[in-house]
Formats: sequence, structure tokens, C-alpha cells
Amino acid sequence: MTRTVFIETQGCQMNEADSELMLGLLAREGFAPTPDPNVADLLILNTCQIREMASDKAFSQLGRWGKLKKQRPEVKIAMAGCVAQQVGNTVFERMPYVDMVYGTQNIHDLPRLVRQVFDENDHHVIALDKQKEASTFDYFEDVTQVRQNRGTSAWVTIIEGCNYFCTYCVVPYTRGRQISRKPQSILDEVKRLAEGGVKEVTLLGQTVDAYGQDFNDLRYDLADLFHAVHAVDGIERIRFMTSHPLDLSDRMIEAIAELPKLMEQIHIPMQSGDDAVLKRMRRGYTSDDYYRLTDKIHDRIPNVAITGDYIVGFPGESEEAFLNSVYSVSRAGLYLGNTAAYSARLQTPAAIWEERYADQAIPQSVKEERLQILNEAIRKQAMAHNTPMVGQVQNVLVEGQSKRNPQRLMGRNRQNKVINFDIPDGIDQASLVNSLVDVQVTEAYPFSLLATLL
Ligand code: SAH
Ligand code: SF4
Ligand code: F3S
Repeated sequence: MTRTVFIETQGCQMNEADSELMLGLLAREGFAPTPDPNVADLLILNTCQIREMASDKAFSQLGRWGKLKKQRPEVKIAMAGCVAQQVGNTVFERMPYVDMVYGTQNIHDLPRLVRQVFDENDHHVIALDKQKEASTFDYFEDVTQVRQNRGTSAWVTIIEGCNYFCTYCVVPYTRGRQISRKPQSILDEVKRLAEGGVKEVTLLGQTVDAYGQDFNDLRYDLADLFHAVHAVDGIERIRFMTSHPLDLSDRMIEAIAELPKLMEQIHIPMQSGDDAVLKRMRRGYTSDDYYRLTDKIHDRIPNVAITGDYIVGFPGESEEAFLNSVYSVSRAGLYLGNTAAYSARLQTPAAIWEERYADQAIPQSVKEERLQILNEAIRKQAMAHNTPMVGQVQNVLVEGQSKRNPQRLMGRNRQNKVINFDIPDGIDQASLVNSLVDVQVTEAYPFSLLATLL
């Protein structure tokens, strides 16, 4: 009997990749994915815990599914991901209609859990280990992910967890310690993707450039993996994220500069431009260390787009400290940056300080004001990068119709910039999707470019 599963993924690309693996595992148990939660036999929420807003979103979605279950009591509800990992079985008290809870360390147990719930009619089943022994992907030899068509790039998780313990961050608690996936398992997946017509892969990890540091019996790092993936026929573009400034080695930079399939984009968050804040964040580098790295990257890879993340309003962040973050955007020659207001997270040292030294907390209104100022600096910086591109020819991988104007197509250039472009009459749009084409830029905006197909 075929059952159906609806999965909603919140949070980062790591979660998206996990969801694709979950669907692959469930396919072997006879579950087909459905886009309609109202008919699904199983609803899975893959949750994110990174900020308070993210976990609130998880609980409100479960609440909605609880109402749905009143109408269809036979539907089973599962909570997975980073919130599940941290809050565990307290979910059953708060939301008794949830049938199944499993965290990031137990995805490999999903087949057993669904059998318990569906075949043995168990309720409130839970799998919540503190730390798994191997990369989730190394528990299986033959599982094929069910890809969710998010653009043309396929996510390939290469390292899970994180060993850094930045003082604001919940990831080490929700994802456990760093575990790298075996190179062969990664290469097998990339080959399968290439055989299926995928042209671009994005290698994923919270600290993707720390890949391989945890191997006991093997010396193999991200630069080695770059070379190995580069040799896979059919793969045309390789991306990777997120890099940590302390782990990006000269060999990796060299590989990006030399290997044509490696895209010139590095996501390497600075988080703050201020040395005192960086120290309290426990990031392990100073602003000068970061600038030395970005200078080196700019020197070696001329067309590179360096992108990053910033947190504003970290406890005790002075006006002057904040302005150091604003300054860093142009000093590091960033192309784009994500910004977020600091949000206190369970178990993290920063949240404990904030409680103890309440006077250090930054008021919400100040956080919002700082967000606006920093966003404006980033917007200006992006515009300064994009304006000189008018007239240039760019190679893009076509993803599909442009969001705002269905007459146009949308693709990304090597630097991952979004380019919407016009196509001459008579050319079938669909025939261009997932192909690499040249376009000429006609107009520049901060977050996208307009072009015409050549
Ligand atoms: N591993 C990456 C970041 C992963 S989390 C790195 O080390 O840079 C993704 C982003 O969420 C972070 O870059 C940070 O900017 C933001 N973030 C993490 N914890 C946060 C918190 N407590 N409040 C606000 N933003 C946070
Ligand atoms: Fe979080 Fe820091 Fe690890 Fe990034 S490096 S995931 S910010 S603890
Ligand atoms: Fe969120 Fe977990 Fe990713 S907390 S950002 S889903 S690693």
C-alpha cells in the first residue's frame, strides 16, 4: 500500500538536504511525497532553532497541523530537525497530537519510527540521541534522496555538526559535533546526480571548510574534495557553503582560483566587525585577521563575490562597535550579506550573560535601527558591484521563469548573482531550463541584474 508524506522544511540548506534524505528513506518504506498536507498520511515538520522567530514558527505550524488532525484523526504528525533535537519529549506535553519526535542525530532511525507508528500503532515515539557515531549519509549505502527542485543546484551535505561553540549559537547543541562524510559516499552521490542531468552541486556544512578535520585514518580536506568533484563528468559548477574564516586554507583558495568548475563565490561570515564583540562571540579571529583573509581572496580570485552574515545587537554591542561592522562591509569588499538581530538561544553562554547582566541587552528598537543602517550599507555595496556590470556578458545556469515577470527567465552567474533575462520570441523557455547560456547585462539593481539572451 502506498502512503503519502508531506514534509515542510524550515531553516537552512542543511535541513533541506536532510528532508530530501528523509523522503528517500520513506520511499523505501512505501511513502510517496505529496504537495498537499490535507491528504497526506504523514506530516513531517523539519524545524529550525537558530533564532526565536524560527522556533516560534515551528510551534505555530504544529498547532495548525493539530487542528487538521481533529478533522482527520488518522493523520500522523512528526517533528524533526533542530527544535526537536533541543526540546525533545517536552513537545508531547505541549502538543499531545504529535506522534513522533526525532532529532538531527536520528534521521537514520526514521524507517523504524514510521513502522512503529503506522504498523504497531504506537503513539509518542521518540529517537533523540545526543551524538550519532557517523554522518547520517554514511549509515546507508544505497538510499537515493528525493530532490525537492529548489533551483538547479543539488545540495550535497559533506559535513554535519559544528565544533566551534560561538557564544550566541545554538547549532552545536542542535547538530552535535562535527562529523565529515566519507569522500567516496560524497563522490557516489555527485556521480549519481550528474548521471541524472544535474549540472551544479552545492557542498554543504555549517563549517564546510573544516571538512575532513575529524577523520582519524585519512588526510583529506575540502581542497582534495574540490579536485575529486571537479573530475566528475557532467558536473559543470561546484559551490560550497558555509566557510569559517579560520578554516579556509591557501590550498582551498588556490583550488577555487585554478579549477574552472569551482564558482567564484565564498560565503564566509564575519558576524561582527568589532574586535571586542568578536572576542565575546568567541569567533577566534580579529577584524584584521578577517581582512587579511579577504584581501588574499580578492588578490588571488579577481572576480570573486565574498558574501557573509552579521549579527547586530549582540549583548553589549556599543554604537562604535556596531559602526565597525558597517565599516567592514566596504573594507572586506563584500558583495552581499545577511543580517540578523541578535536573539538569545537556549543553553548558549551569551543568553546566560544577557540574563545575568541585563543592562548589556540591546533594546529591540536599537537592533532594528542598526539592522536598517547595515542593510543600507550592504545594498550600496551590492549596487557598487553590479553597476559596472552593465554591458558585460555573463554565463548563467537557467533555473526557470523569473519571479516577477513570467516572460523572462532567471538564472545565476558564476558569482551566484540573480540575473533575469529576456529571450527572443520563438524560443521555448522550457528548453533553456538547466542549461548554461550567455546573457548580456542591460540594467543593474542591488539584488539582481537584468539582461538579454545572446
Ligand atoms: N556556521 C555559520 C553560521 C550558521 S548559522 C558560521 O559560522 O558563520 C547562520 C547565521 O545565523 C549565522 O551566520 C548568524 O549570523 C545567524 N545567527 C546564529 N545565531 C544567531 C543568534 N543567536 N541570533 C541572531 N542570529 C544568529
Ligand atoms: Fe554556530 Fe559558530 Fe558553529 Fe557557525 S561556527 S554553526 S556560528 S557555533
Ligand atoms: Fe536552523 Fe538547524 Fe540550520 S538551527 S539554521 S536548521 S542547522
